[in-house]
Parts: sequence; structure tokens; C-alpha cells
Amino acid sequence: MMSCYIWSFLFVSVSVAAFFPASDAQVPGFLSIDCGGSANYTDDLGLLWTGDAGWFPLGESAAVSVPSEKRAHYYSTVRYFPSTSTSTKHCYTLPVRTRTRYLVRATFLYGNFDRSNVFPEFDLYLGASRWSTIVIYDDDKVVTREAVVLAADPAGLSVCLSNATTGQPFISTLELRQLNGSLYYTDDEARAFLSLSARINFGAPTADPVRYPDDPYDRIWESDLVRRPNYLVDVAPGTVNVSTDRPVFVASGSERPPQKVMQTAVVGDLGDLTYRLDLNGFPGNGWAFSYFAEIEEFVAPETRKFKLFIPGLPDVSKPTVDIGENAPGKYRLYEPGFFNISLPFVLSFAFRKTNDSSKGPILNAFEIYKYMHIDLGSPDAPVMASLASHYPFADWAMEGGDPCLPSPWSWVKCSTSEAQQQPRVISINLSGKNLTGNVPPEVAALPCLAEIGLANNMLTGPIPDLSASSNLSIIHMENNQLTGNVPSYFGSLPKLSELYLQNNKLSGPIPRALLSRSIVFNYSGNMYLGIGKQQEKQHVIIIISALLGASFLLAAALCCYVLTRRTIVNRRGSPPEGPADCGDAASKVLPAQKKEKLQNSNPSMQSCEIATETAHPYSLSELEAATNKFESRIGSGGFGIVYYGKLSDGKEIAVKVPSNDSYQGKKQFKNEVSLLSRIHHRNLVAFLGYCHEDGRNILVYEFMHNGTLKEHLHGRDKHISWIKRLEIAEDAAKGIEYLHTGCTPSIIHRDIKTSNILLDKQMRAKVSDFGLSKLLAAADHQEQQQQQHASTNVRGTLGYLDPHYYISQQLTEKSDMYSFGIILLELISGRPPISTVTFGEHLRNIAPWAKLYYERGDIEAIIDPSMAGEYQDVQSIWKMAEAAVRCIDAEPRKRPCMPEVVKEIQEAMALERSSSETRPAGGGCALFSPSAASVRSGGTMRSHDMVMDNLLLMDDDEDDDSSFSVSGVSKLKYPELR
Ligand SMILES: *[C@@H]1O[C@H](CO)[C@@H](O)[C@H](O)[C@H]1NC(C)=O
Ligand SMILES: *[C@@H]1O[C@H](CO)[C@@H](O)[C@H](O)[C@H]1NC(C)=O
Repeated sequence: MMSCYIWSFLFVSVSVAAFFPASDAQVPGFLSIDCGGSANYTDDLGLLWTGDAGWFPLGESAAVSVPSEKRAHYYSTVRYFPSTSTSTKHCYTLPVRTRTRYLVRATFLYGNFDRSNVFPEFDLYLGASRWSTIVIYDDDKVVTREAVVLAADPAGLSVCLSNATTGQPFISTLELRQLNGSLYYTDDEARAFLSLSARINFGAPTADPVRYPDDPYDRIWESDLVRRPNYLVDVAPGTVNVSTDRPVFVASGSERPPQKVMQTAVVGDLGDLTYRLDLNGFPGNGWAFSYFAEIEEFVAPETRKFKLFIPGLPDVSKPTVDIGENAPGKYRLYEPGFFNISLPFVLSFAFRKTNDSSKGPILNAFEIYKYMHIDLGSPDAPVMASLASHYPFADWAMEGGDPCLPSPWSWVKCSTSEAQQQPRVISINLSGKNLTGNVPPEVAALPCLAEIGLANNMLTGPIPDLSASSNLSIIHMENNQLTGNVPSYFGSLPKLSELYLQNNKLSGPIPRALLSRSIVFNYSGNMYLGIGKQQEKQHVIIIISALLGASFLLAAALCCYVLTRRTIVNRRGSPPEGPADCGDAASKVLPAQKKEKLQNSNPSMQSCEIATETAHPYSLSELEAATNKFESRIGSGGFGIVYYGKLSDGKEIAVKVPSNDSYQGKKQFKNEVSLLSRIHHRNLVAFLGYCHEDGRNILVYEFMHNGTLKEHLHGRDKHISWIKRLEIAEDAAKGIEYLHTGCTPSIIHRDIKTSNILLDKQMRAKVSDFGLSKLLAAADHQEQQQQQHASTNVRGTLGYLDPHYYISQQLTEKSDMYSFGIILLELISGRPPISTVTFGEHLRNIAPWAKLYYERGDIEAIIDPSMAGEYQDVQSIWKMAEAAVRCIDAEPRKRPCMPEVVKEIQEAMALERSSSETRPAGGGCALFSPSAASVRSGGTMRSHDMVMDNLLLMDDDEDDDSSFSVSGVSKLKYPELR
């Protein structure tokens, strides 16, 4: 352990040296990095900026095409990370003092730096903890994220860009500002950091923010004159600006707002101050403080007393703000606030004067931060940082951040499993990296390590003591210059299956135990390695069983991985020291390589799981017997008709008979079904087998006792509670998540709808009809070739069809996300996706209807009346509505991906469950119903809603839920986009 700390110390020193050039212009505790820039310079505020070109070797730098005279110099370049990069996360490690609080600010100005106009979307992490998603939707708008965090890791504070959804991750600036007061102290800084949602200077004279040098910590106090959609709207009549030139006492060095911010305020002359604003990152728990100072001159008996009102949060109205009492004397600051308050995404609030007050309320400033969960990351992180620190000049050693989270370093694989939360390093591959010197001792300090790759280097010295690494299975140390003996502990490593030591300078006897084991062992090319008489003929011992084991490992490494491990609950439990629970390391792997997203690839390339099963062939007579000659029809869809059946062994089945039989070739059909048979997940309806006989192609599935979600939601006499709906949403989301992320290339369902979500005996949901799109696509393809016309086909079901996909004909996972968003809206509202009666005169579609009320902040209007008074926490419904609205965004790249939605559903479930524990059942809770004044005027329909509406015109029978297929969009009339 000692060596580890020494090394991390050295590592930090290297970074610090690179960061602080010999200059005294640097404000102590400030670090301003101009990403992609090459020169050091001082900006208009007098802050020293450091280009990262000299010391940050990863990624590329590029100039943005925004005119530089319009912008500060640091926005003229970006550092970006091309998608060809071997690593999927890119970290800056900033030098910090531990147990010190910092403000971290990252900015992003896209400026079309890559001349591609593909707006990037990617995630931002602080170390292993998720911070925010960066979504670019404008060439020349700066996106800013700020956090307040207590530095804990002596190796530095990493800011990482990860998981690009579209485009290439990039960053414009990175700023670190050391805080030294305790304003932002919170109870649980080890478990949560603060991510800024709003910091506003009220009554500002101009739209310019207040920052350094007025604010010694360089916080950016945004002017209340900067108006954005849904941000600081619904201002009460009678709101006036007041200001003073007299000093306001703010106790310098206290982290309170700077005097300049406190010298201006708004006052509600008619008795009310009201605002509404969207809170980035919410709903959730947050830190919210308001800052007041009396800056108006008036004399007793005049008083200023007021209370805060937030719909749905009655408790906030209890205390009265009486500035005269709270901050005796004028021009003094008073800062009431909430250390931990649950706030909605759409925050409406009012300050109202009390009856005994003569003056209206005043507000100088406020700040709202969201609590973000701190993910402790891998317990192996210090060891790995120490390992990397031996090679300060190698790119692979500079990837930074946590070795496992959010994605592992390019040369590392990590375990993850649901029971054991913290990921462990299970494989390191440093083969062919020109390593010199001894084998890094850290490899012996990774208790879960199963695979070591150190082949083809110039390593010298002995093989270290790896006897404590009882999970070691594959060791590659060939083609080095290792000396000394082959250690005898190799003989007793319980899981060892492959050991490659050839072409080294090893000497001495070979441990007997090694030779008697069923492993792959190669030790040729070691001149002085003693070989006993019986061993002479066998330099390489290969035992078939060992080979099988190895190929299993390989297959497992290719196997599906699930990206859900971002939310970590209760991480604190497992201490980094002590015996490690490695779980089944080999079967759960987060591969370092980027997930391929292929559309039309060869189906045989599709690898979802180890193909242990092949599709079971049923005979037609068997199926006829089971279904009583296709007597009982239980459903129908775009694909065909579904019949109920019972096999001779009593097993109930659903038999799907395609309506138009377009698979000519038996071989092709069999290929496709063998693909289907490889897709297994708890939340996907199990595919049991097929029948190809008599020109008929029949698919056999498990029977789902409780039918479709559609019947339960919209059927008569059916009722599902809110928590059950959330469970169903979670199940379905996990099934789809698996299709999207668990398979390579990913599978796009293309027809997600409530009638394709089936419920089993326990009312757990499974997704059906997946994988069929491929079958259909293959059939279409043939058809097209025959007809000599090239067009793609839009498939889907009215009401669920992504308008963007319909227009562009470009299919991505995000089209499934749209459909899933519609399902979420159905779950919330209990209404069908399309109807002329329920959504009013102009809207026939659930999407614009729900969005309209959501944006008005009127969630009550869309909640299924049959759930009234039954759900426990309206915040959980808000959360789902927010997720749904993001899913149905007109622009696919703004839609979340499924792992994110799964997480949000789980958070909504946690809200609902924790409320039901603390509240009496049926209590419900106060609803958020803004006054009429806050309703945004009109419900403007967006272009995609128009498309939606026109799509409906093609459909005569609105209740018909069957899939449809359209060849060549040009045949259809759809409106010009406005
Ligand atoms: C805030 O309060 C919630 C519920 O009362 C609690 O679960 C959470 O841990 C708190 N967060 C912090 C950072 O204190
Ligand atoms: C290893 O060193 C050789 C010669 O110095 C160089 O050509 C090669 O690119 C290096 N390989 C790696 C992976 O750094």
C-alpha cells in the first residue's frame, strides 16, 4: 500500500507541474484549462488560462467555427475525442487537496468544430459518479455545468466524458475554483455532491453575469434578465427592481453571494413575487438557499414579512421571513434555505407578504443544486492508479478516472453483478505495450484478477508472487526477458487454465504440480528451464477440457453486457479492504470496446449469448394437436395470428402463424429462428421453437397467462395500481434495454406497443414480437429486389410510430424510445395513444396532449382518474412524465437511451415505495396546480405533431391496433414541415 501512495503522489506532482507554469498571475486555488488551446494567457477578468495541448495527449484539438470576436478566447478551441478512439471515456485529472471543497465548471461550445453538424450528446462524470448529460442543440450556445464537490481522492479529481450517444464528445473549458468556507457544507458529502441547477442574481441592471473578481470564488451569478423558455417566467405583476450603492455586509470569505449581487433585488409591490423555472436535473433532492438583504430605505412602523409558497410542499410556508428580525439592521444578508428538499422539475414558487406586513416581499438571489449520488467506483482504483503511474508517458496510462466506471479503461475489464455492487478489475491486457523493468507489483494486489496479459514486452526480473490472486485463470507473460524460477504457487492456483511463459529467460525446475494439471501451459524457448525426462516430448501440454474452459471464457467475454450498473444503492457497505467477493467474474464482463451499432449486418454475426440452445423444431402434427387444429385464437398482430396451445406434456404455448408467408427458403427461415432462439432475457417472451413444414413457418412461444398490457390498461373492469404500472414499465424497459444494449449488433424492436407487452401469472411483464423485424426486413428485401425499386420500409403501429423515423426513414434505437415514451404516457394516463374523444378537438394523439399539460405543470390533468387518491407520491408520476416527454422528443438525439429510462423508472418506484411506507395508504398528496396565470398561452403544435395528425388521416379505423407497413413515403401525403 505504501508504494501505491508514493506513486500517486508522484503522479499528482507531474500533473501539477504541467498545470502551473512559472507565472504569478494565477489566483491561488484557481485552475482554468482552455481545452484544445496551446498558449497560456490572461483573460479580461485577469484569470490565467492554460492550454492543454502540451500535456494532455489524448484526443484531438480543433478550432470552432464561431467568430472569435464574439466569444472569449477560450471558446475558440475544443478538445474532442474521435469515435475511433480505443477508449470510451476520456478524463482530465485535476490536482486537488483532499478534504477541500471545490467548484468545478465545465463548458461546451460546439461551434460545429468537426464540420459535421452532428450535434454531440454524451455523459459527463465526476470520477465514477454520473454528473450530467450534455446535449448540444445549437452551434453557438455555451452549455455549462457546475458542481460543488468535496475532494476525497488524493490522485486528483477526474472529469470524464463518456458514452457518446451521437457525435463526438468534446469540451471547451474546465475550471477549478477552490472554496474555503462552509456555506456548501452538507451532512453527507461523502455520498453526494452538488450539481448546479440555478444561481440567479435578481434585480440585475444588465444581462451580464456577476463573477470574478466581484465573486472571489468566481461563481457565475446569472442575471434575472436572461430569459430562456420555461425559465424565470410567470413573473407576478407589480414586480420591480430595487438597488443600492451602499455596502451590504456579506462577511467576506464566507462564500456568501458577493456584495454586488446583494445590492440588487426584486420587490413584489403588490404583495407577491412569483416565478416558474425548469430545474435542470430535477425532480430530485436538492440544496436550495435564498439570499435576502434589506436594501430599501424605510422607517418603522413599516415592516417587510413574507412567506415562501411552493405548490405541493406545504412545509416550506411555515417559517416567516422577517428581514428586520432575521438580519437586524439594514444592508445585512440573511440566507434561509433547505439543506435537503425534494423539488419538481418544473418549480413554481411564490413569496407572499403576510397580512401584518406593510411591504411586499424582496428577493436578492438564490441558488439551487441537485444532490448527485457519489459512486465510490472500483475498490481497485488506487492500485490501478499506482500501476498506471509507473508509465507516466504512455497514453494508455493516462486514461484517468475510475478504472471501471462509467466504462473501463481500454486495457481493463471489470466485473459487475447485481449482488456485489462495486466493480472489480478482472482482466488487464498490457501485451505489446513496450513495458520495461519488473512486472508491476500491483498485478499481485488485484484480488479478482482472472486474466493477466503482459506478453510481448521487455519485462525483466522475476515473476512476482501472485499466489493471493486465487481467481487467476489466464496468464500471458510470453516473449519477455523474465528471469528466475517458475514459481511453485502456479500449481495451486485453483482456477488456472492457461499459462504462457515461452520465450523468456526463466530457469530452474518446472513445478511438478503444474505439469500434472489439465491446463494449457507453454514454456518453450526458456533455455535454462529444466525439463525432466518424461516431460521432454511435451513442451506444450494441451488438454481438451482446458481448451473448452478457455473458449468458454472467451465466449463469456463476448457475451451480453448490461449497462444498468450506474445507479448504485448503498455502496457504503463494502469496505475496500478485506476478502473480496468477486462474484462470477468471467460471466459478467463490461467490455472495453465500443459497442457496435450495425443495422443490416449479417445475422450470423449477431452474438447475444453463448448459443447453447438451438431452436427446437416442432412437427406440424404436434402443433395441430396442441392447438386443437388452431382452434383458439388469442391474438393477432402485424405478424400474423396467435393461437393457444397445450403440448402433450401439459406445457402451455402460444403459436404464432404468420399471415403472409414470405420466407421462401427453409435455410433462411432456420437462420432467423436460430437467431431468435439466442435472445434470452427474463423480460422477453421466451421463444421455444418453430415449425417449417408444408410451406408453413410457425413460431412457438411461451404462453403468457395474463394477456396484453393493452387489455389491462384499456379493458373494461381492469385496474392496475401505480406501483404495478411502474413494475410493468420497468420489466418492459429492461427487456427492450437488453435488445438495445445486450446484443451486438443491437436489435431494434420497431413495434413497441402495449399489445406487445405481455403479462405472466404474477403480472410481470415481458416484451414480445422482438427480432421479427429482421425476419420482416429480409422478406421485404426480397420483395424489393423483385420489384426493382429501392425504398426502405417504415414499420410500426399508429400512435406509437416515431414521426422522425417516419420522415427520415432512418431507424435507430431512439425510435423504440419514442414508442416506449408513448407507453409510459398510457401508463400514467390510462388513455389509448390515439383517440378523437379524449384529447380534445385538435389533438388526436396522446403525445402532444400529454406534453401540453406537462409543460403547463398540470400533471393532474393527465393522471389516470382511476388511480386518483391511490398513488402515494405525485413526484414519482412527475418523474415518469418527465421520462416520457424526453422519450417522445421530436429530435431523436434528445431522447434518452433505455438504461437511463430504466434508472428513472427505478427511482420513481423508490419514491413511490418510500412514500407508501411513511404515509397512510390512500393519503395521496397535494397536487401541483399552478394558477391560471401560469398556464402558458396556447398549445402550439410542433411539426412532428402535425405529421402525427396527418398520419392519422390515412387510418380509417382508429381503434385498429394492427401494424402497418408503408413502402416509399413519397406515396403518402404528409404536410410540409413548418
Ligand atoms: C435527502 O433526503 C432524502 C430523503 O429524506 C434522503 O434519502 C437523502 O439521502 C438525503 N440526501 C442527502 C444528500 O442528505
Ligand atoms: C514500442 O517501441 C517501438 C520502438 O521504440 C515503437 O516503434 C513502437 O511503436 C512502440 N510500441 C508501442 C505500443 O508503444
